[in-house]
Amino acid sequence: MGSKRVTGILMLSLALLIPVFGQGHQDGCAPEELKSQQNTLAGYLSPDFAGDYDLAIANLFRLGSLYQSMALRCGYMPSEPEINSMLEAALSFVTLEDLIAAQSVGSDVAAILLDLQEAYGDPLAGQMLYNGLEPALGGVALGCAGCHENEAVAPLTAGTWTRINDIRLEQPELRDYSHRQYLVESIVRPLAYTIPDYPPLMPDFYGSQLSTQHLADLVAFLDSQDQLPDDE
Ligand code: HEC
Repeated sequence: MGSKRVTGILMLSLALLIPVFGQGHQDGCAPEELKSQQNTLAGYLSPDFAGDYDLAIANLFRLGSLYQSMALRCGYMPSEPEINSMLEAALSFVTLEDLIAAQSVGSDVAAILLDLQEAYGDPLAGQMLYNGLEPALGGVALGCAGCHENEAVAPLTAGTWTRINDIRLEQPELRDYSHRQYLVESIVRPLAYTIPDYPPLMPDFYGSQLSTQHLADLVAFLDSQDQLPDDE
C-alpha cells in the first residue's frame, strides 16, 4: 500500500478509533481482570460446533474483534503498522474507489453549499492544494495553478474574488447566484457556465477528488484573491 493511500484513509480509520483512544485505565482493565475476561470470551469459542464450519469461522472473527475492542477500551494505542494492517483488512472488503467516493463532495452544488456551512476553510491549506503541493483525495495533485497562472489559458487566480463580484455576478444569467454558489459551481461543474473568451477547458471531475474540507480550503484561498493584477 502506498503511503499516500494510507494517509488518504487514515483519517477515516482514526475517526473510528479516536473515540475509544486515551480513555486510560477503566474498570476491568487490571491485568488479572483482563485475563479472566479473556478466558470468558474464549469460552464463546466453544470447541463443539457440531461440524458447522460457518459458525466456527464467524465465532473466530467475533472473538478477534471483541479482544480488540477490549484492548482499545482499556486505552491501547495501536501502532502505525497495526493500523495499516487493520486498514488492509478493511480494504479487502471495500475498494479504495468506494472509500474515496464516500468522502468526495460530488457535484450537487446545493448540497455542497449546505455542507460548507459546517466547515472552516484554511486559505493556506487551500493554496497548497491549488498549487499541487498537498494532495487531494486518493493522493492526487490538483493542477489548478497550472492553468490559472496563465491568462491565455484560464482566468488568473489573482483577483478571482473581485472579478466574481464585479463582472461574473453582473451577467444576466448569473443574476440569482450568490458569490459562493458561483465559486463552488465553477469548481465542481465548470461547464455549467463558461466564461466568454475562454474555451471550456477545465476538467469536470474535481467533485470526485475533493472532500468538503478540501473544497472549503480552496474556497477560502480563492476568496482571499481580492487584488486585481492591475491594482498591484
Ligand atoms: C486545464 C485547465 C484548467 C484547470 C486544470 C483548472 N481550471 Fe479552472 N478554469 C479553466 C478555464 C478555461 C476556465 C474558464 C472557462 C470555464 O468557466 O470553464 C476556468 C474557470 C475557473 C473558475 C471561475 C473563474 C472566474 O473568473 O469566474 C474558477 C473559480 C476555477 N476555474 C477554479 C479552479 C480550481 C479550484 C481548479 C483546481 C481544482 C481549476 N480551476 C483547475 C481552466 C482550468
